[in-house]
Amino acid sequence: MGLVYDVAIIGGGVIGGSIAFQLAKRGKKVIVLEKGRLAEQASGAAAGMLAAQGELEKETGPLFKLAVQSRAMFPHLAEELRELSGIDISLINRGMLKIATSQEQVHELKEVMTCQLQAGQEAEWLTGEQVRAREPGLSEVILGAMYIPNDGQVLAPELSLAFLKSAAVLGAELREYTEVKSLLVERGEVKGVVTHGETIRSEQVVVATGAWSGSWLGQGNEPATVYPVKGECLSVLTTRPLLRTTVFSHGCYLVPKRGGRLVIGATMKEHTYDRKVSIEGISTLMERAKRLLPAIAEAEFEKAWAGTRPQTRDGLPILGEHPEWKGVYLAAGHYRNGILLSPVTGVVIADLMEGKDVGGIKPFQAARGLTV
Ligand code: FAD
Ligand code: GLY
Repeated sequence: MGLVYDVAIIGGGVIGGSIAFQLAKRGKKVIVLEKGRLAEQASGAAAGMLAAQGELEKETGPLFKLAVQSRAMFPHLAEELRELSGIDISLINRGMLKIATSQEQVHELKEVMTCQLQAGQEAEWLTGEQVRAREPGLSEVILGAMYIPNDGQVLAPELSLAFLKSAAVLGAELREYTEVKSLLVERGEVKGVVTHGETIRSEQVVVATGAWSGSWLGQGNEPATVYPVKGECLSVLTTRPLLRTTVFSHGCYLVPKRGGRLVIGATMKEHTYDRKVSIEGISTLMERAKRLLPAIAEAEFEKAWAGTRPQTRDGLPILGEHPEWKGVYLAAGHYRNGILLSPVTGVVIADLMEGKDVGGIKPFQAARGLTV
């Protein structure tokens, strides 16, 4: 019999990486199995916003709490990952402007802000003039904005690779081009995984397969529970900084990165795994970006790409033990916020796998995933 691992993790994205990192830190013998290349799917496509308040604006429930908790983990994590992996995830804490371009949006955003202040979060209302005083490149179409000082950003591909490399430094094995075909389950208990031509034995298994997680959830419930949502993005290069703060609006966000790069995102198309970049998608984003930040018209086009977000039917990620197979843990369905939620997901899953009590996790449990 070959090597026996404590844990086999299926999926080498930011979620598999974060879990591998946490488990390796706890002395577990871990193997990560990735069907393609590491961090090349959603985790490599993400804009890297840590938009707990900006993206989850309709929430003050369990997902919001989890997101805020995860956001707070980044400063320490960035240092830890840099020390172990040598990778700088470029954590930037210049906040986010969630902008309004109609009176209706002004009204909606002010309501969101009141809720978030009541939930103990920081936010400040800025008029259009105050927005432009802060960011002179922004146009007159902006009527006001909720400024969120604590929604930062990172480089998403770097974060994913930093988790994985740090896990490897701590002893984890990373295997690319290794697709897991099935789980090895004996009398309801997992014993490992089966790849193309190999059985890898492990005490426990984590399914962190992003938008491809539907088929692991249980017979008869697969396709609808986790489904793909395509997103296209582009980046441009500027010789002078056009923006310091991330700008988030309906249908378009602008994320300033180091080196004069601006990421513009993102389209939304449900139920497709296609990753082709369409002229329609990119031209729509460009038009929206120019309306908000006119000087972007002079920027140099760098590249465009697409990724596949893992969405669930009820919009909550699935975190917990598989309802049928003992020893299998599911960590999927992080939709638009997997980068933000990756640190807390790693800790929560590692704690559950060690049999620890994890408070507030019930709404995310896998059994709920089977019944929605
Ligand atoms: P993935 O990164 O897709 O990783 C899953 C991996 O599993 C893949 O590499 C896949 O090849 C592998 N796999 C699947 N099946 C198997 C198998 N059978 N065997 C072996 N391997 C397998 N989130 C944020 O927080 N902030 C953002 O600003 C942000 N922006 C985004 C912008 C875009 C355009 C997109 C598309 C997403 C964005 N997201 C953002 C969301 C975020 O990218 C995802 O939620 C997150 O990357 C999901 O991570 P994951 O590891 O679950 O999935
Ligand atoms: N969170 C940004 C996106 O998914 O496009």
